[in-house]
Amino acid sequence: MSTVENQTAHEAGELEAIMLVGGQGTRLRPLTIGVPKPLLPTAGVPFLAHQLARAAQAGVTRIIMATAYRAEMFAEVFGDGTGFGLEIVYVHETEPLGTGGGIRNAAASLRSGPDEPVVVLNGDILSGHDLSAQLDLHRKTDAAVTLHLVEVPDPARFGCVPTDFDGRVTAFLEKTPNPVTNQINAGCYVFTRRYIDAMPAGQVLSVERNTFPDLIAAGETIMGFVESAYWLDVGTPEAYVRGSCDLVLGELSSPAVPGATGSSLLLPGASADPSATLCGGTVLGSGSSVGAGAMVDGSVIFDGVRIGAGAQVTASVIGSGAKVGDGAILDGVVIGTGADIAGGNELRHGLRVWPGVTLPGTAVRFSTDA
Ligand code: GDD
Ligand code: MG
Repeated sequence: MSTVENQTAHEAGELEAIMLVGGQGTRLRPLTIGVPKPLLPTAGVPFLAHQLARAAQAGVTRIIMATAYRAEMFAEVFGDGTGFGLEIVYVHETEPLGTGGGIRNAAASLRSGPDEPVVVLNGDILSGHDLSAQLDLHRKTDAAVTLHLVEVPDPARFGCVPTDFDGRVTAFLEKTPNPVTNQINAGCYVFTRRYIDAMPAGQVLSVERNTFPDLIAAGETIMGFVESAYWLDVGTPEAYVRGSCDLVLGELSSPAVPGATGSSLLLPGASADPSATLCGGTVLGSGSSVGAGAMVDGSVIFDGVRIGAGAQVTASVIGSGAKVGDGAILDGVVIGTGADIAGGNELRHGLRVWPGVTLPGTAVRFSTDA
């Protein structure tokens, strides 16, 4: 469809967003070997469901899903978006085009007019910020782009974004080793549509390394919308577990959480022995079970997992169908699909067990029996 036809189809009150979900999620391996990061189960539903539900709540009506890695899985999970009160359209990059290339590629499916705002969202963010207020600032300042900015203690891992007294962005320094401020790009942009169309088409492009610095150099108005509401990039296992727990605990409210918020969430068919403790925002997947006296604190347990009696699981992710034996201790680890951790094992910080791996128990047994 040409841009003119798209514009004709554009309805009053429609607000479009492009969702960037083409990343490989390498830092979340082995969880992302078969599943893209935005589809990982988070507080009982695929991660992206929270972003879609919140976007719909904030007035977004139509989403262009910019996919590359395992593209077909997104449509299988979210369909046409009716369940969220949204219209979802899928576009695919045969080769990943980067964040800028992905946005430009999605532009062919937009209906908004050249002067209308289009929201762009990184697909791995949980944010409680006020999108309507960001849109208001964008309109009021007639900016080319308005970026949501947050303050973090470790800005070198992000896009560092200084602003002047008027809130205008003065530089965009992606992953600089020498950040000039703790203020970073939070991964939610409002673009005036014509600035998306002006980006070069059909090539790999980074919005952070190319588009934003180029617009600043050209003297265009890029505004910073600074807000300190809940914000998290779930790109690492620690952050992913934190995000899921925060949703279960109600630290960030999401209409997509399938149940009441509280210290834990049990999905249908999950069971825990009455003497077991589930806390810290733990989610227990369908068909999973927790044995007597076990403790599961601040963890994400996928479907069909068996956790044995007396086991202690803290700040960990346990993949579907995995087994954790009696008395095992797991703290800050990732257990792949179907892995089998025998009782007595003690696994700590950052350890990742690959899918299907069996960790046997100790070969020598000590006993006080005669
Ligand atoms: N369609 C498409 N194509 N999407 C992509 C591609 C691509 O080639 N590459 C990455 N994405 C998507 C990812 O799926 C993710 O949702 C988003 O773009 C950002 O990519 P990440 O790989 O997660 O980037 P990051 O976390 O290192 O940095 C980005 O986010 C930070 C905030 O969390 C940057 O935007 C930073 O400036 C920002 O501070
Ligand atoms: Mg990220």
